[in-house]
Amino acid sequence: MKIDSQTFESLLEQYQQRAKQALNHWLPPESINPVVLHKAMRYSVLAPGKRVRPALIYATASTLEVDLQSVDGAAAAIEIIHAYSLIHDDLPAMDDDDLRRGRPTCHIEFDEATAILAGDALQALAFYILSHDPDMISDSSARLKMVQQLALFSGSRGMAGGQAIDLAAVGKPLNITELETMHIHKTGALIRTCVQMAALSAKNLSEEKFNALDCYAKAIGLSFQVQDDILDVTGNTETLGKPQGSDIKHNKPTYPSIIGLQASREKAQELHEKALQSLTIFGEEADILRYISAWFVERTH
Ligand code: IPE
Ligand code: IPE
Ligand code: MG
Ligand code: MG
Ligand code: MG
Repeated sequence: MKIDSQTFESLLEQYQQRAKQALNHWLPPESINPVVLHKAMRYSVLAPGKRVRPALIYATASTLEVDLQSVDGAAAAIEIIHAYSLIHDDLPAMDDDDLRRGRPTCHIEFDEATAILAGDALQALAFYILSHDPDMISDSSARLKMVQQLALFSGSRGMAGGQAIDLAAVGKPLNITELETMHIHKTGALIRTCVQMAALSAKNLSEEKFNALDCYAKAIGLSFQVQDDILDVTGNTETLGKPQGSDIKHNKPTYPSIIGLQASREKAQELHEKALQSLTIFGEEADILRYISAWFVERTH
């Protein structure tokens, strides 16, 4: 679909709304036991996040003419994994932050043990959805690949591994390759998984198109974290909904701390251009993905 920026904004809103409904559907109600755990899960997941990852799944699905209903489960699963990663990321043992999505972090609103358990339970819920949702693609080998991909890229070879590298790197002067490796794992891996899960929902997608989309996803997965690092320096707490300056305070190696702000902005732009290049085999049906890449590097929160 050929789109302009206004259409993009309205599609994004539709995707965010759709994701909210899917999340609300899959999260256990607060009324059932254990009440506090379910409250904490809903509190963190349903807080006003940008829903970047579900939006990316829907945009990829729409590019490939895949029915959005068949990726609602994948969209909910990835956002739930992401929400769990944020809950744990904010814990005192990790980034020790007290504000997330404009609200007290899970361990502040509840307590540390509840926050740990909410993360654990959310992780399990994501895999339940992916293996159970009757609306998802029925082809069992495609389904199994999605489960494998999410497991691999949320675990020690992906997000959790990246978080381990992040913690070990505090106060250390990482070189640019090490920094990139950390970012590709802690943030890029889940973003890449979004595109792959949507691509796996398409029937008869050529290997060439699958690889092009994967290349796009790798570029925007990294640009997203480069911009996150930039915003830690240039953003403000109210707009971000999380504490500005947290990286500086905790002596975290980031793009701005290692190559400076200007070079970080150039890096983000370079990655955006790389993402666009990856999509050259697609026509205007991939415009939505082009807008998403621009959003990743232009966003202010
Ligand atoms: C924040 O992710 C953590 C990173 C991986 C950079 P988002 O910027 O997507 O956070 P929400 O979901 O909008 O709160
Ligand atoms: C977090 O990176 C990546 C995750 C896997 C959650 P950050 O620690 O930079 O994320 P924010 O800035 O707290 O959202
Ligand atoms: Mg962190
Ligand atoms: Mg953090
Ligand atoms: Mg950050």
